This record gives sequence, structure tokens and C-alpha cells, in this order.
Amino acid sequence: MCEYAFNELCQARPEWTGDDYAFLQAGDMAAFHQALPGYAPTPLRSLPALAAKLGLAEILVKDESQRFGIKAFKALGASYAMYRLLKKQWQARFADPFTPASFQDRHVLETLGSFTFCAATDGNHGRAVAWTARKLGQRAVIYMPADSVPARVESIRGEGAEVELVAGTFDLCVERCARDAAKNGWQAISDTAYPGYGEIPGWILLGYTSIFVELEGLLHGPMKTGVDTVILPAGVGGLAAAGAFFYSKRYGAKRPFLICVEPVSSDCFLESVRFGKGEPLPTRGRQTSIMAGLNCGVPSPLAWPFVRDAYPFFLAVGDRFAEEAMRRYYHPLKGDPRIISGESGSSGLAALLALTRVDKLVAIRSKLPLGPTARVLLVNTEGDTDPENFKKVIGDL
Ligand SMILES: Cc1ncc(COP(=O)(O)O)c(C=O)c1O
Repeated sequence: MCEYAFNELCQARPEWTGDDYAFLQAGDMAAFHQALPGYAPTPLRSLPALAAKLGLAEILVKDESQRFGIKAFKALGASYAMYRLLKKQWQARFADPFTPASFQDRHVLETLGSFTFCAATDGNHGRAVAWTARKLGQRAVIYMPADSVPARVESIRGEGAEVELVAGTFDLCVERCARDAAKNGWQAISDTAYPGYGEIPGWILLGYTSIFVELEGLLHGPMKTGVDTVILPAGVGGLAAAGAFFYSKRYGAKRPFLICVEPVSSDCFLESVRFGKGEPLPTRGRQTSIMAGLNCGVPSPLAWPFVRDAYPFFLAVGDRFAEEAMRRYYHPLKGDPRIISGESGSSGLAALLALTRVDKLVAIRSKLPLGPTARVLLVNTEGDTDPENFKKVIGDL
């Protein structure tokens, strides 16, 4: 039930240049986030007992479960993209600068007029857009699959947004959101790109790089990453692409070994690497994973080249590994800290567990930098965003 692929298209020194990649020149992401009220770098935790048990030197977890109080890393992307959008509109009309402080200035915002922001989501990105819209005093309409977990729908409504439930998958929500935005003159804040729409997903990708920037000094040095392997999850691929860009730009061929993890039932990146000739392909899976944030049927065309060029290895894991990882984070081995990790959040650890447990993965583990001297970085991308299932999985119900 787990699948893997080595990626022959991975490059030693990937570079993304030309007009399509001009957006990568931006360098104001961390400064923008630092200026947001409530900003604090998320913690980096070490799990020495689990590392010893899994035959690794160190497991480090960048814990995003409390980012901005909305339980997931996604606010980094939505807030930065909405900042850049307003900044662009301001600059088209006025000569005075638009700064991170302008983003919180009611007078400036009133001058720009009122907006309805809309987004498609399995939960976290929609909450992040709603959270940012609320801070700006603007309306948000969020599209979610009709079978979304009620707690995730409610947390978005709790940010003051309207929620439209769509009979279908996340990908259908993206289409519906784009259509309604065009029809009603709303501003779509999509984390996935589609034809004619790439600027905002590019800003979202850039926003996620703050996760890695926060590791400066703690882990990353000027010449050394301080970590051998980084495991990142992919839904539409924005976060995975941010990791690809950050590490390739900073360390080139000396970047850590990047592993992309997805659920088996929505493994569009893995299938693209396995069956494609460089182009992204849809998953053949039914997109039924409990890892809701990763339940995406097609790679974002914006994220795809980054992931394709920088990741040598792709892994798809079943839900039972995500559940086991949630339990392991919550009931740590003696000496390790407790971490609250939701279904998608735990996917990096799920990958490590699968690599020690599933015969065909154990058989290839020696080809990966996951031996006794390996330092591995995981990102816990969310906390208990579905509290009921969380309690069930960890055994408190
Ligand atoms: C908790 C969590 N982790 C990971 C991801 C994957 O991010 P991306 O869609 O940018 O690949 C998501 C996406 O919504 C998410 O909610």
C-alpha cells in the first residue's frame, strides 16, 4: 500500500530563471511576517529517543501546529500573497510606499476599497485566507468539498467567512472558486495555479519560505544546512516547492536530500515522476485520505517544476502510517517532547515509519541518507485541525 519512486529528472543544481520566475527575486517575506501582530517563530523540537529507535542520529521537527494561533503553517502563504496583492494595487495608484505597516493601516485599506476574497480549500488554506481577510476587515468566501470535516468548516466560519460546500473534490472547488471570482469580481487567493493564474500561488510559495528562514542559526549555517534529509508533504505542492527553492538557492548541490510525501490515494507528484515525461499528471487515486490537506488530484503547475527538479525521491503512504505518526507524536518515547500533530501534519513522520516498516521500502532505505549518522528534518504542518478524529486516533475517545 506504500509506493515510491526515484526521480530521474532531479537536477544537482536546479535553477529557475526567466520571466516566469522573476517573482523569486522577492526578499521581504520574513520581514513582512515579523511585522504581523502575534508573530513568533515556531519551535524546532528534537526527538532523540525516536531517532535512536528508528536508527537515525537525530529527528528534528519544525512544529507549525501553533502558527498564528490557527493550527497550521498556511497563514504564512495567504497573508504574504494578500499583502503583495494590495501592495501591487496601491503602487498602481499612489506614489507613497506600501509597507508591512500599511497592511495593518485601516486608512490605507479604506483608500483601496473593499474586497471579497475567495479560496478553495480542504481546510487550512481557507482558514488562512479567512483569518487574513478578517484582519483586513474584508469579506471572504471559502469553497470546500461537501464531505469536509465539520470542525474544519466551523473553524473557517469562526473567522467570519462564508463557506460554500461543493459536491466534489478539492479540484472542483478550485474551478468553482475561479468561476465565481470571475463572475462576481471577487479576488481569488488560490494556492494552486491554473491557466492565466499564477502570480498569487507564486507569492504563497514565497510566504512559506519563512519556515526555513526561521531555522537560520538554529540549524542552517552559511555553508551547511545542518541536516541531511528533509521530508516535506505535498498537496498542490506549494510547501514542497518552497523547500525546493529555499534549499536549492541557498545550498545548490549541497542541499539536503529532499523527500516528498503524499497519501497513496492522492499521489499526483509521485505518479507524475513515475509515468510522466516531465509534465505533471493527475493522480489515479480516489482522493479519500484522512490527510485532508494533501488530498489534491493534480500538482499546481507553478509548484511542479520546483518539485520535479529538486526532489530525488517520492513516497506515498497509507493513512495507517499517518495515524501511527499522530500517536507517536502525542505519546512520545521517554525523553522526547509531546507534539500535537494532525493527519496531514504527521505525514513526514508517517514517511519515516513506513521506511522502517514496509518491506519494499526497508529494502531501498540504504539508498537514502537515512542511516545512523543522518539528521532528518520534518515539518509538522498542522495541529489537531479535526479535534474529534484526533482524539479518536490518539486513543482518548
Ligand atoms: C496541514 C497541511 N500540510 C501540508 C499541506 C500541503 O501544502 P501544499 O498544498 O502547499 O502542497 C497542506 C495543504 O493544505 C496542509 O493543510
